[in-house]
Amino acid sequence: MKKRILTGDRPTGPLHLGHYVGSVMNRVRLQNEYETFIIIADVQALTTNFEHPEKLKQDVYNVALDNLACGIDPKISTIFIQSLIPEIAELTIYYSMFVSVNLLSHNPTIKTEAKQHGFEHRKTYGFLGYPVSQAADITFCRAHLVPVGSDQLPHIELTRRIVRRFNELYEPVLVEPEPLISSVPRLMGLDGNAKMSKSLGNCINLIDSPKVVAEQISKAITDPARIHATDPGHPDVCNIFSYQKVFNPDFIKELEENCKKGAIGCVACKKILINVINELLAPIQQKRAEYEKDLSVVNDIINQGTKRAKQEAELTMELVRKAIKIDYQI
Ligand code: TRP
Ligand code: SF4
Repeated sequence: MKKRILTGDRPTGPLHLGHYVGSVMNRVRLQNEYETFIIIADVQALTTNFEHPEKLKQDVYNVALDNLACGIDPKISTIFIQSLIPEIAELTIYYSMFVSVNLLSHNPTIKTEAKQHGFEHRKTYGFLGYPVSQAADITFCRAHLVPVGSDQLPHIELTRRIVRRFNELYEPVLVEPEPLISSVPRLMGLDGNAKMSKSLGNCINLIDSPKVVAEQISKAITDPARIHATDPGHPDVCNIFSYQKVFNPDFIKELEENCKKGAIGCVACKKILINVINELLAPIQQKRAEYEKDLSVVNDIINQGTKRAKQEAELTMELVRKAIKIDYQI
């Protein structure tokens, strides 16, 4: 039997290049080798978006479309919606009995996100606990591998702890998953912030037109010490250089030398990057446009995927309920 992947996205807008290099590239590459489940984590999106549920439906479609556009093949991979698998909520409750609040409040990703959203001192129960719910996302189908960006590592580590604890407390019915971190280093935001993030407005979305890509990259900061195009540059402190490394690796040696000598200006350097990224995005956007022509096809894909996920959820819950003695015959 094939091993399983579970991975997914929080639908808070269209996916961006950070998602692409962090996780989507790996899931597309591995979908033939692993039985792949992709969760559209709509409940998790509510942790930061609970005041705006009206945006959610559109974003669920956006995320499904982005995955399909990037090359997820619905004939072999399962795309499904988190809220339509109530077993995930049920598992979350059982796990929450033995996960300590203290452990959650020290989770570095939770801390960073709380800061980003300005609710360090008023974290909701659901926000603080979403890594527990994410452990349920991963374990409900007994996944072996979880391709994610490095910011998600604390959550996978928690999942592993939960699985070990559950198996030890009750019966060994859960699978302990491994993270698969992208070989590509995390993309910085174009504004120099540590993370590309929609809420910070410093990203390139997979749906951005060539014009928007050009605008976003043109306004990005480079080596702040460089004033004239002929000044010697410091690629090691330049954000654009880190993007060139990811998207234009063949050109990187030459660029590094030329930048240090002051033989290439930032405007010319950015122009090269703009072209490479637009070339990467063109076929993705073309495929997306095809799917967008008939959204009933996307609906069918999500429906079928959700049915498939539901089968696995029911199987797992039978084992889990038996293990924790909540399997009344009444
Ligand atoms: N937390 C992930 C993110 O913000 C999304 C996600 C939800 C996820 N459930 C998951 C990722 C399960 C991997 C596995 O991108
Ligand atoms: Fe950065 Fe390119 Fe300018 Fe060098 S030339 S500082 S790598 S943008």
